[in-house]
Amino acid sequence: MRKPLFFLIFVITAFSPVIYGRSCESAARSWLEQNQEFAASKLLQHMSPSDGLPGAVIAAPSRLEPDYYYHWVRDAALVTDALMSFYDHSSDQSLNSKIRRQINAYIDYSNHIQLVTSQTGLGEPKFYVNGNAYQQPWGRPQNDGPALRAISMIHWARIQMKNGNEKFVREKLYTGTYPASSPIKKDLEYISHHWKDSSFDLWEEVKGSHFYTLMVTRKALIQGYQLASALHDDGAAKWYINQAKEIEYELNNFWDDKRQYFITTINQSGGLTYKTSNLDVAVILGLLHGDMHDGFLPWDDARVINTINSLVASFKQQYRINMQGSIPGVAIGRYPEDRYAGTHFDGGNPWPLCTLAIAEALYRYAYTLKEKGRIIYADAVLARADEFVQRVSFHSHANGDLDEQIDRDTGQMTSAPDLGWNYAAMLTTSLSASGHLWP
Ligand code: NOJ
Ligand code: NOJ
Repeated sequence: MRKPLFFLIFVITAFSPVIYGRSCESAARSWLEQNQEFAASKLLQHMSPSDGLPGAVIAAPSRLEPDYYYHWVRDAALVTDALMSFYDHSSDQSLNSKIRRQINAYIDYSNHIQLVTSQTGLGEPKFYVNGNAYQQPWGRPQNDGPALRAISMIHWARIQMKNGNEKFVREKLYTGTYPASSPIKKDLEYISHHWKDSSFDLWEEVKGSHFYTLMVTRKALIQGYQLASALHDDGAAKWYINQAKEIEYELNNFWDDKRQYFITTINQSGGLTYKTSNLDVAVILGLLHGDMHDGFLPWDDARVINTINSLVASFKQQYRINMQGSIPGVAIGRYPEDRYAGTHFDGGNPWPLCTLAIAEALYRYAYTLKEKGRIIYADAVLARADEFVQRVSFHSHANGDLDEQIDRDTGQMTSAPDLGWNYAAMLTTSLSASGHLWP
């Protein structure tokens, strides 16, 4: 990472009339672009740890306070999915061959943990790197996991199909056999039959029905429908798409007319009870990770914009580091009532991946406006997105590393060091910023 250079560019551009857009990169967007390889290499470092099975992905290298040395199904899927997006857009042959090897190992590891006996089967949230199930008490099941895992494996299947490798897809990823015997179909069967169940949210704290989980389930089922159709598994295809349509109806029930934002959980059945605002960046993450660019909840939907604005306004007055005014952008946390600080529960902090989510959402919003010819407004939105990127860059370690959280008072990195998901967020934000966002 190039922090001093970043600041030099920032100072120069901040005082000149910048024309934002693809031809004239902003400092934030150049920073993102320059860090793509850094982020991809970081993600590879989180894969196949020497004391685990090939293809296991650690959430972060720390084994104590907090212990993140596990294969979390969610984090692993987000990490590998971001690597695939990088792979698809990169011409770096040597990095790409490493990525190919690691992704294939991830598919094998996923195959393995799908078969391991665990407390909740395919909804099980995390595994040891040796492939064993984690058996201690935990918030389970977490049904976003199998949806995200399906999305990542379908992504790989699509890349292989594009390269004429249908044989590989049929052998390793998807066959129509029922009961399901291939990894993608196993996850699709599970989520298509269980999306109405109560499960824990992506923050592993609240049991109920979640906007995030349903958004990613919808995407997995639509892409599952497309893959099943291409491979002539027509009965399954029809079942998946019908479930996806039903989920769309359910998602509209998350709009809170009184509060004027999408709430994160309905029908709560357990877990912590102090999330009274029900306002959560998980909604934005759901819109990002479930984005199909197909007209469902588009980025210029007023309800989506209101949700983004409510989150930013709330976090602006939440943390001391947001009240000082000299640093660009706003540092964003998970949700206003959060208490989780890594090892203590003495108050929540902003998170890089949450701050990047607002940036990425705004980049996609800007491109949506551009598609509709609203160029001037789009450029203003791009500039606003840039500020959230600058904010993350500002709080990063000098060597570019990103920990899970940013201390709300000091601005120092805190909690799990070197969190993989952060680098996945950097990569996808970078691709979104350069207009390479939609599959
Ligand atoms: C660990 C989880 O990963 C985190 O999201 C949560 O806030 C705490 N446990 C408390 O449940
Ligand atoms: C805590 C986060 O809340 C959860 O989303 C994540 O999966 C784990 N940490 C591991 O990174």
